[in-house]
Amino acid sequence: MSTPVQTLTLGTPLSPSAARVMLLGSGELGKEVLIALQRLGVETIAVDRYENAPGQQVAHHARTITMSDAAQLRTLIEAERPQLVVPEIEAIATAELEKLEAEGVVRVIPTARAARLTMDREGIRRLAAETLALPTSPYRFCNSLAELQAAIDGTDGLGAAIGYPCVVKPVMSSSGKGQSKIDGPADVQKAWEYAMAGGRVSHGRVIVEGFIDFDYEITLLTVRARGQGAEAGQIATAYCEPIGHKQVSGDYVESWQPQPMSPLALERAQTIARTVTDNLGGQGLFGVELFVKGDMVWFSEVSPRPHDTGLVTLSTQVQSEFELHARAILGLPVDTSLRAPGASAVIYGGVDAQDVVFDGVAEALSEPGTDIRLFGKPESFVKRRLGVALATAPDVDTARAKALAAAAKVKPRVRG
Ligand SMILES: Nc1ncnc2c1ncn2[C@@H]1O[C@H](COP(=O)(O)OP(=O)(O)O)[C@@H](O)[C@H]1O
Ligand SMILES: [Mg+2]
Repeated sequence: MSTPVQTLTLGTPLSPSAARVMLLGSGELGKEVLIALQRLGVETIAVDRYENAPGQQVAHHARTITMSDAAQLRTLIEAERPQLVVPEIEAIATAELEKLEAEGVVRVIPTARAARLTMDREGIRRLAAETLALPTSPYRFCNSLAELQAAIDGTDGLGAAIGYPCVVKPVMSSSGKGQSKIDGPADVQKAWEYAMAGGRVSHGRVIVEGFIDFDYEITLLTVRARGQGAEAGQIATAYCEPIGHKQVSGDYVESWQPQPMSPLALERAQTIARTVTDNLGGQGLFGVELFVKGDMVWFSEVSPRPHDTGLVTLSTQVQSEFELHARAILGLPVDTSLRAPGASAVIYGGVDAQDVVFDGVAEALSEPGTDIRLFGKPESFVKRRLGVALATAPDVDTARAKALAAAAKVKPRVRG
């Protein structure tokens, strides 16, 4: 089934002809999307929950609201009247976005339904596993410690035992917050309490997943954008080279591209990505997270927007994931090809402080083929991502070593 591509006419910012795009969430990923849009002369509105968020520093307009508050979100969108609303984070009043889209007030990227389904782990997991029959880890949703224990033991009458080891995550959380692995009965209560403390919205619901002993995990960036040739004028699907990554406590610390895969595993990964993104629909880039063991591939989750592990594409691809997203949502053609193998390594704050300065930047950049991004976050935390080191090399292993070395040289510290 083909769907006509929707195109936004590009005009002159700050005039009545402007194409206007609003980012909901303006962190480091939103900042790069905003820069890509700025380069095409789009008028941009950067929204976040705090002042001077990274993306707000590069947009035409900065607005600060509570995006999970339906009334505040509607008031802002009705006042600004952007043609496109682009969610960058999950914690948004997505039911209100669905209403605004249904009323024809705005187009939500990729669709308001996709934003709602991926807002919590339950919507997307049930869609993927139960509606689309994609392979996933065994899972159950639980509302109490007793339910969690019963799901692990298989005494809840809802299916086979999840067993040990398993992973518990708040239904509403990201970046590993509140997530932990359970190796045996002694860990269950601790994992439950950790999830209760770490969820974004404390509504006391978790997913417990059987642990997948994968060889490696990937993000398959998948773009729904203007097709070419036989698909001219229609939405077509394109894939980037797979991105391998390393997570520590559920948070990304390193990524690289391309991740070598067997032809069968790659084909399966693309088929899974295609199935889920076809269902979510709309135009834009998606980060499809998959676990791989030999030729076996499991769907894990999907972001209907650029993915943190995809920061590596700033140096590896002809068009970064941010440029791909910008082009896709505007209705322009995309090029997902790789320019060079490369890697990214996260630069953490290391200190709890405001107004930090960075030592070692010149040293980090002294190696040819190395680059960094400093996000400009107004406040540093020990485990907050403040920047990323990027590297390209003839092979991924060399690029990883270069990116790690560069990241280690950049040292945030308190000014003074
Ligand atoms: N069922 C699982 N089996 C093995 N590892 C897992 C499982 N679920 C999560 N992980 C690990 O934890 C990381 C973060 O989990 P994920 O579900 O992607 O949470 P988030 O939404 O916070 O990114 C994954 O990238 C993977 O490394
Ligand atoms: Mg994830």
